[in-house]
Amino acid sequence: MFKKGDVISKLILVLFAAILLLMVLGGRLFTDIEEEAYESEETDRIVVGVSQLGSESGWRTANTESVQNVFTKDNGYFLLFNNARQKQENQIKAIRSFISQRVDYIVFAPVVETGWETVLQEAREAGIPVILMDRQVDVTDKSLYVTCVGSDFVEEGERAGRWLEKDLRKRGMDKETVNIVVLKGTEGSSSQIGRTIGFSVVASNHSNWNILEQEYADFTSAKGREVMEVFLKKHPDIDVVISQNDDMTFGAIEAIRDAGKTVGIGGDITIISFDAVNTALEMVADGIINVDIECNPNQGEYLSRVIEMLENGEKVENQYYVEENVFTIENVTRELIEERNY
Ligand code: AHR
Repeated sequence: MFKKGDVISKLILVLFAAILLLMVLGGRLFTDIEEEAYESEETDRIVVGVSQLGSESGWRTANTESVQNVFTKDNGYFLLFNNARQKQENQIKAIRSFISQRVDYIVFAPVVETGWETVLQEAREAGIPVILMDRQVDVTDKSLYVTCVGSDFVEEGERAGRWLEKDLRKRGMDKETVNIVVLKGTEGSSSQIGRTIGFSVVASNHSNWNILEQEYADFTSAKGREVMEVFLKKHPDIDVVISQNDDMTFGAIEAIRDAGKTVGIGGDITIISFDAVNTALEMVADGIINVDIECNPNQGEYLSRVIEMLENGEKVENQYYVEENVFTIENVTRELIEERNY
């Protein structure tokens, strides 16, 4: 005779095994369908393999959407999309898989700048043009990629510095000691490197700008909050926060408020942010963020134009910069926020 308890635990086990089997089969089925669809494609569509570095920020979501909206069937494309979840090894794997599937173009947003030579060499040997999106790679042989569509991150950093110069002058604080902390993005990424360099160039002209700390916070809200909490405990006298993206800014503002301080126009701490996603622009309009240096994620159209040029045998530049702006309470309107798609 079976005990009631034994029967129940066996039933649970069977149920668990069945769920597991379904999950595995489901996964296999999904991959098979995707591959089958690609293999049986009539090849008049342009096959593009896109390796996105992750989904760490609101900006990244908008960047992914912009690519997915442009590489569509209606526009004559077949898109193979992979999200690398912030890992360079996943991006390398995805690129190798695009090579073995013999895509027509590889587009990728490199999570960091170094470590790409080998896989880019493999793409070149397979005769597949590589286009960089958003960020740069640090390789000696620049012909390993065709072009890069992205932002001028050094210029963005300088814009932040120039805005601070002007603001301090306006407030008659340009001779006073100004205590600054910097929340930096993903270590080794072009956006982190460029924005840091750009801001430092301007800061080096001001001996009264006292950079207390610079710390990596991975471009995420959670890490922005965590690092800001540490800054606040160590330094009771912070005047300015430079946060290299909006997500980190959101976390940092929470930490500042929890510490009993105020932010923005007329507040204890001036907030300088990057990206200018809609939620942040609302905070600019409300005087919570003092300035937001735009980073434009709408790169899909630029990428498809580049591919069109390559298809027509036209020569392309080795860098295309997207258009970007600087937003303060003076130029952010509700209409502008409503019109924007990010
Ligand atoms: O490389 C662009 C940066 O990456 C954006 O500023 C940030 O939000 C994203 O994660």
